[in-house]
Amino acid sequence: MFLYVILALVLLYVFFFKIDSDLTLYFYDKFSPSLHKLSGKTVWVVGSSSGIGESLALQLAKLDCKIILTSRSTDKLVELKKQCLQLSNKLTEDDIYIADFDVTDNEMIKSKFEEIKKRFSNIDLLINNAGRLYLSKFLEDNEEDVAQLFQLNYFANLNVTREVIRFWKQTNQTGQIAVTSSTAVYMEYPFIQHYSVTKKALNAAYNALRIEHKIPITLICPGPVYTGIYANSFIKGENRNPDHAVFFNMTSERCAELSLVAVANQLSEVWVSKQYYLFLIYVGKIAPLTLNKIATLLMRESILERICNVILAEKKTDCLKLEAVSLKSE
Ligand SMILES: NC(=O)c1ccc[n+]([C@@H]2O[C@H](COP(=O)([O-])OP(=O)(O)OC[C@H]3O[C@@H](n4cnc5c(N)ncnc54)[C@H](OP(=O)(O)O)[C@@H]3O)[C@@H](O)[C@H]2O)c1
Repeated sequence: MFLYVILALVLLYVFFFKIDSDLTLYFYDKFSPSLHKLSGKTVWVVGSSSGIGESLALQLAKLDCKIILTSRSTDKLVELKKQCLQLSNKLTEDDIYIADFDVTDNEMIKSKFEEIKKRFSNIDLLINNAGRLYLSKFLEDNEEDVAQLFQLNYFANLNVTREVIRFWKQTNQTGQIAVTSSTAVYMEYPFIQHYSVTKKALNAAYNALRIEHKIPITLICPGPVYTGIYANSFIKGENRNPDHAVFFNMTSERCAELSLVAVANQLSEVWVSKQYYLFLIYVGKIAPLTLNKIATLLMRESILERICNVILAEKKTDCLKLEAVSLKSE
């Protein structure tokens, strides 16, 4: 009996603390990562200057992929290009292209893509990763900010994809798409409900696109990952809390590693997160009413206020007064 208890505890420990994805991806990662399938491909990483996108670019460089780096921060991309070149023996200066622009500008997408097409014969893999968080209390929501959020997280994402698919059709080529979605698709939290909706919308759009165009599309749904996502979100800069790392437990490197395993194996959707977090999603799937009741019971006003204060390092409710501040203006 004692042995069974120990065994059960060990299994629970492994399940909750060692497995950091859904079980399908876990088995692929352990037994068939197949990352070599990505070697030498041309990959466009949109949103590559920091966090998950930066880690993806670095790991793709190790696989000798030609890479197109996109974000608004030219300096960071120049530095990233240097690091990528150091990681690969095969890549040359010409194999990594910096396409620095704001993806919410549709005309820029078109003109930059024209430049990209002149340099690379195909885009074998598009990774649509650019996105931002928007933190807001419902009564303090600002429609303009929400529209800006949708412009980046949803419309810009699909606009890039539309150009790439058109190119594939025109040139009789094909490729693969990966999209950084979020587990927030399956769990609605106070303060980030609009962000959740943008990611739900992406999932819906890409699930339909996969059928319409018969293209392998991987929806990557990370749980909390330690990146600058809070620092870069649509909130006032002075309210940022550098200690937000306490909430996170996955590195962007690990998230990128698992994401690439999913892409290499053409998995349609994966969840990348520790189990204790995913467990709540499983409960929500099996018994949505129960999860809703538990959340409503636990998330009292005082607790919500505390979460708000910890995240934003402010004492009062006005800490969530929103103002869309771009990183550039900081
Ligand atoms: N971190 C998490 O816990 C988490 C969890 C689930 C999903 N995600 C998703 O993962 C993706 C990456 O986020 P992250 O956590 O790595 O955060 P991050 O470090 O803030 O990365 C966001 C990336 O998007 C780029 N970007 C933002 N606005 C842009 C614009 N208008 N035009 C071009 N590029 C733009 C940023 O570059 P510039 O600012 O230099 O332009 C940066 O490279 C996002 O889609 C996010 O929603 C993150």
